[in-house]
Amino acid sequence: MTYTFPHRHLLDIEQLSKNDILALLDLAARYAEQNRSPRKKIDKLAGKTVVNMFLESSTRTRTSFEIAAKRLGADVINFNAALSSINKGETLLDTMRVVDAMQVDAIVIRHQENGIPKFISQHVNASILNAGDGANEHPTQALLDALTIRRHKGKLEGLTVAICGDVEHSRVARTNIRLLNKFGAKIRIFTPPKFAPKDLSALGVTAYPTMAEALKDADVVLMLRIQNERLAGGEFTMSSEEYHRLYGLDHDKLKAAKTDVIITHPLPLNRGVEITDELADDPTYSLFFEQVEMGVAVRMACLDMLLGNRA
Ligand code: NCD
Repeated sequence: MTYTFPHRHLLDIEQLSKNDILALLDLAARYAEQNRSPRKKIDKLAGKTVVNMFLESSTRTRTSFEIAAKRLGADVINFNAALSSINKGETLLDTMRVVDAMQVDAIVIRHQENGIPKFISQHVNASILNAGDGANEHPTQALLDALTIRRHKGKLEGLTVAICGDVEHSRVARTNIRLLNKFGAKIRIFTPPKFAPKDLSALGVTAYPTMAEALKDADVVLMLRIQNERLAGGEFTMSSEEYHRLYGLDHDKLKAAKTDVIITHPLPLNRGVEITDELADDPTYSLFFEQVEMGVAVRMACLDMLLGNRA
């Protein structure tokens, strides 16, 4: 089997074929095993340089990319946005060109605006990896969710997936929907009316009026937090208690789903708001830390596919 990853950048899920996704997941599954072994580090990307440019707050995704690149033997630089010349008025593109001119191999970008990684990719030689742009895309998150789901369900095809919470402002929801649609999943959403995506039918999902209907016979439930950082002050005033009562998940509501249902959540978790403490800590259903583990493996697979065969 010879498969060559046909992309220079990882910008969104739309660019990936089903074959690309499966190849990434298969490689990530091998890295997940290696990551559990005593010798985690290989030299596949020795001599390569990866720069993390996180211009929106993040700890876990940045750490995950850093560990992934180091496990493959690459050198990693974490760009400190707070100390950078962006604060001296330099344009973002010039800053990226400066980093690119240092002959780096990959730049991992997180930015609060939609489309920034794609824009930068048109102006630099390095491979660009999108680590989350606004409410648009977060491709490595959808891939790590897919890997976690496949480990438990054995497949992605035809699953019934319920996505609950602030779908409109969630790049995790959007990216998961785009990936799962490629595998013919049946995707339902349950959101406060305010958080129903404006492009509902274009996304190919069905909105349900109650959690019981959305969860009925579901294989997977994806829970989301409210993306407060993308809301104007006073835009959403419901108390945490009321939100939990109407939109939060607990063991009782979960009974509507299949008995072997699994729950995913991208973290950070708001305990007692979108999910009860008890359910969040119940390993029969909640896979949040396994998702984090798969995240490193998926990012290793992405870096390897993009850089491993480049001269
Ligand atoms: C997600 C993100 O940043 O979009 N988190 C993450 O990548 N770990 C989800 C979120 O912030 O709610």
